[in-house]
Amino acid sequence: MAGSTKRILVVGAGAREHALADGIRQDPGRPAVLASPGNPGMEGDIHVHPSFPENPAEAAVWIDSLSPDLVVIGPEKPLAAGLSDALRQKGRRVLGPSAQAAQIESSKLFAKERMREAGIPTADFFVTRDPGSVRDAVRSFGYPSVLKADGLAQGKGVFVLQTPEDLEEALGKVFHRRSLGDQTTFFVERGLSGPEVSFIVLTDGTRFLPFPEARDYKRIGDGNRGPNTGGMGAVTPLSDWTEKDQEDACHLIERILWGMRRHGTPFQGFLYAGLMKTAEGLKILEFNARFGDPEAQVLLPSAGESLLSLLEAAVGGSLPEKVPFSRSPRVAVVLAAQGYPEKPVSGHVLSGLGKAREQEGTRLYMAGVGEQDGQIVSSGGRVLTVAGEGKTMREARERAYRTISMIGLEGGQFRTDIGAEEMTG
Ligand code: AMP
Ligand code: GLY
Repeated sequence: MAGSTKRILVVGAGAREHALADGIRQDPGRPAVLASPGNPGMEGDIHVHPSFPENPAEAAVWIDSLSPDLVVIGPEKPLAAGLSDALRQKGRRVLGPSAQAAQIESSKLFAKERMREAGIPTADFFVTRDPGSVRDAVRSFGYPSVLKADGLAQGKGVFVLQTPEDLEEALGKVFHRRSLGDQTTFFVERGLSGPEVSFIVLTDGTRFLPFPEARDYKRIGDGNRGPNTGGMGAVTPLSDWTEKDQEDACHLIERILWGMRRHGTPFQGFLYAGLMKTAEGLKILEFNARFGDPEAQVLLPSAGESLLSLLEAAVGGSLPEKVPFSRSPRVAVVLAAQGYPEKPVSGHVLSGLGKAREQEGTRLYMAGVGEQDGQIVSSGGRVLTVAGEGKTMREARERAYRTISMIGLEGGQFRTDIGAEEMTG
């Protein structure tokens, strides 16, 4: 009976959304998987619906017309704009926080207030609105300090200040050249140091399931050099993550979920804690209201065939007690376009995809791609991710790198050191 096939819609267009759709497809019930806007590289049995209105009210009408049984929202923008609220008003089942709860990412001030109420360790900060108060704050903290925009800035809103020259450059960008548009509220934080960890959970607002810990690689170049990007790769699990870290991280999640409920903004969906392991213990650098990208490409496959049933359990408030995720080593390497991150070049043809897709132990997740004369071409900064899985980290890395080397893209860039420091055996 056609009506008995579930229809699951993933909202978004990147490799994270491709990984969500691909994971949901594995469900033994063989659901119909839709992606909107999706991208032309999400081939096979994912049904791509490219026309996607930006406005949340219009998007909700459009999504309603696709009659999904469940909507999974990938990126932060539609969450912050209230898409999940608009869909719930139409009676749709949605995985993803309300706009109010998504403020944990879209407003750093909101996040800091919730953290303070819940007693969660995070960097000391001042709220600033002009160059003078930024200078005062930096004087008070010394170097390093960090200047951040309050609102969403797609990874471009954070300046780590090591020297007075860094400070002047950041002030020039933010206040004189208005590189962050019309944002008027900024934070100056005390600079913290230590390794960073991405800790992501699936939550119904009260209970949660932690995915394995992961690390992403933000800089464009090997050895963490060059400008920041949306993320050039990811690895899981981490050799410097202890049982105590796991306990402490779970405790921080419990506290923030409590704080969100208490504030009247319970959080349902994927909650991402950006942690730093400092000398004084774990501290939160930021929360995100969604899965990380490229963390999704290494972590979502750890749910195997049960991803969809877990997402449905989070929506229905019936998450299982036992953590169901595998801890197989996984490495994700991002292939970025020529000129990324400053000026990515579009329109270059991708070759070798067919062969790359057939390789054992790897998966391809497509992102910034378009279609031209029947060929897949680059159309954005991060073009695709290759994720490798193995019995060992060595095997996972070798598989990812062997597969990515089969893909041709003029001027394409990828890091060669993703997961290198995890090669302990
Ligand atoms: P955020 O978007 O707030 O996570 O910041 C992006 C990146 O900036 C983080 O992943 C860190 O590498 C760095 N960063 C942010 N806040 C701090 C801080 N207080 N101390 C040191 N580094 C930071
Ligand atoms: N990989 C970092 C992020 O998704 O925000």
